[in-house]
Amino acid sequence: MAIIINESGRVFTLQTKNSTYQMAADSCGVLLHTYYGAKIDAVDMSSLIHKSDVGFSGNPVEAEGDRTYSLDCLPQELPTSGVGDYRSDMIRIIHHDGSCAADFRFAGYEVKMGALDIPGMPSLYDTDNEKAQTLIIKMSEKASGAVVSLIYGVWEDSDVITRSVKVENRGSHSIVLDKALSCSMDFMYSDFDMIYFSGRHAMERNFQRTPVGFAQVAVSSTRGTSSHHYNPAVILAKPETTETAGECYGMCLVYSGNFIASAQKDQREQTRAQIGIHPDWFKFTLNEGEEFYTPQVIMSYSNEGLGQLSRQYHDIIREHICRREYKHARRPVLINNWEATYFDFNEEKILKIAKQAADLGIEMLVLDDGWFGKREDDNSGLGDWFVNEKKMGGSLKQLGEKLHAMGLKFGLWFEPEMVSEDSDLYRAHPDWAIQIPMRSPTRSRNQLVLDMSRSDVREYLLERMTDIISNAQIDYVKWDMNRSICDIYSAVLPSDRQGEVYHRYVLGVYDLLERLLARFPHLLLEGCSGGGGRFDAAMLYYSPQIWCSDNTDAVNRLDIQYGTSFFYPTSTVGAHVSAVPNHQTGRITPFKTRGDVAMSGSFGYELDLGSVSDEEKLMVKQQIADFHSYYELTHEGDYYRLTVPKTKPFMAWEFVLKDKSRAMITMVMTEREGNPLPVHLPVSGLDKDKFYRCSYNDVVLRGNVWNNCGITLKEIPAQYESIIMEFNEVNE
Ligand code: GLA
Repeated sequence: MAIIINESGRVFTLQTKNSTYQMAADSCGVLLHTYYGAKIDAVDMSSLIHKSDVGFSGNPVEAEGDRTYSLDCLPQELPTSGVGDYRSDMIRIIHHDGSCAADFRFAGYEVKMGALDIPGMPSLYDTDNEKAQTLIIKMSEKASGAVVSLIYGVWEDSDVITRSVKVENRGSHSIVLDKALSCSMDFMYSDFDMIYFSGRHAMERNFQRTPVGFAQVAVSSTRGTSSHHYNPAVILAKPETTETAGECYGMCLVYSGNFIASAQKDQREQTRAQIGIHPDWFKFTLNEGEEFYTPQVIMSYSNEGLGQLSRQYHDIIREHICRREYKHARRPVLINNWEATYFDFNEEKILKIAKQAADLGIEMLVLDDGWFGKREDDNSGLGDWFVNEKKMGGSLKQLGEKLHAMGLKFGLWFEPEMVSEDSDLYRAHPDWAIQIPMRSPTRSRNQLVLDMSRSDVREYLLERMTDIISNAQIDYVKWDMNRSICDIYSAVLPSDRQGEVYHRYVLGVYDLLERLLARFPHLLLEGCSGGGGRFDAAMLYYSPQIWCSDNTDAVNRLDIQYGTSFFYPTSTVGAHVSAVPNHQTGRITPFKTRGDVAMSGSFGYELDLGSVSDEEKLMVKQQIADFHSYYELTHEGDYYRLTVPKTKPFMAWEFVLKDKSRAMITMVMTEREGNPLPVHLPVSGLDKDKFYRCSYNDVVLRGNVWNNCGITLKEIPAQYESIIMEFNEVNE
């Protein structure tokens, strides 16, 4: 049993293969957090809690004068708000009389087989109710009739525990949720570093590690999307934890909107870690009988370092977030015309690219921005999802037929959530754009954002996209989103519900995605937001791949793909070979290196094949063959980070098949000095008893030798050169 409840019905132990999570309702009905860490017996660990009279930390009435019992000090599963726990709260409620207090007490529990869906939002799915069990603990608010359900999914084999929260208003007045996080965790006795991922457009998910002290460490987004700037997934690691050893805890939010993830030590040096929807710009009214669900957070624990934690996330996301046909089916190798033509194209140009691509073995052409409305540059036309036949010199239907006749699939770019002021859509429906009455909205890329919380907006988009996709027989859609949201206001919500718009926007995006996919069961979606501005677990529920960054420079991509790999599997990472000098950095890298880096992802090309040399064309053919041969490794295998950016003059990573019969290492020389030091690559994850032949030096050794000794390169590659080497099992 993954969920063990003791005889009193008040101690709840969640067991996964290698971890234990425990909470206990005490005699006052407070739900204490008693343990999360390496697997232990299901014994009540409340004994770990030390109580003492702590000055300026008050005592609830149930403590009956016991000054050692304080909500300000106890490790809690659902912290109270406004009644004496001065640390960061989790659920904050404003009542009809204007008071703000939430004091929760244990009110029962329920166990279910399988995972619980969260209405309107993505979450880990368990199709046959085989992999997960769910524990729901009910906590009632003392005075208002609000009932909180703490929902725990226990994924025993995956070493994953999920948390989410339902708040119901069973009282007789409306309440306003002023804060509703998904998870709050109190660690009693540990020092931690917080690992998070910062960035900017075209330079996303840079690895950061900072100690958690008494000052709060927090990352967040209030941009309406999860953002380029911080990713909604963080790790708490013991200071001594490395890639291959030590304890660490992940929290990955399945949500694409505003979020906050924070950690801070309290006066007793306990660490409170939290994650959920950002409370800024959030207020949600619940009338009598209404309910609210927070997004899900996927938690995982490893005592074998960060690498193992990442592999746990990769497996659960690949198996229980990514869905549909392309979950395991091979994704087509694509060519995208964006960096080849930008807005300057017509049917003839596209067909030329397509013909060259098809000859080289590329499997899909993606027509990017500029095929619709009045869209000669990025100042106009968004929202007018009608084919610009004048510019194209023909219909998309016709183009689709020609591409399919060449054996290519047809992919198409949309940016559904946006509208240009210079568009017929905006002229007809200015109130469909998010903007505050009597204020001029802030423009970004000269565009505004459609109010996705409105059903009429979604109906329009669904109708337009359906028409185009079915007419032109579109196989793939690149769903882009190219600005952050501000001027938050919806013309269809009353003044006292404007605090709901950011969240309702996200729910609206999910609704449209779900309905579109229901109409087109074979459609492959690639998510995008100026590259990786919405690279989160929730979007992966709809699009099994996301364009990782607008930065296609192979060397910058090493750092971006490194940071992305902490939570997200390489199968989800859109990565293309582009032209040199690179359009974002001006750097010149070898064609082979660009291919080797992009191959550790959902692979494609984004350049003018007409300006590629004959030698490079042969390399394209070879790269596609290699990509197919490595597909199982890169899309289904276990991933090992072998280096840390900027600590060595090279970067290296490895994939190992689940059955350990094959592995591959990619290395790129990032710096080159005179009289260079030897390059020694670690090797990881091989079966210690199996023999493997290494393609680099043709040497056969047992896995225990490779794993412990690694491999030294015979010659030091030139700067930016790359090597891929395979390790194949042999029978000795
Ligand atoms: C975004 C995307 C690019 C491209 C452009 C088109 O920046 O990330 O790949 O599609 O939009 O405008």
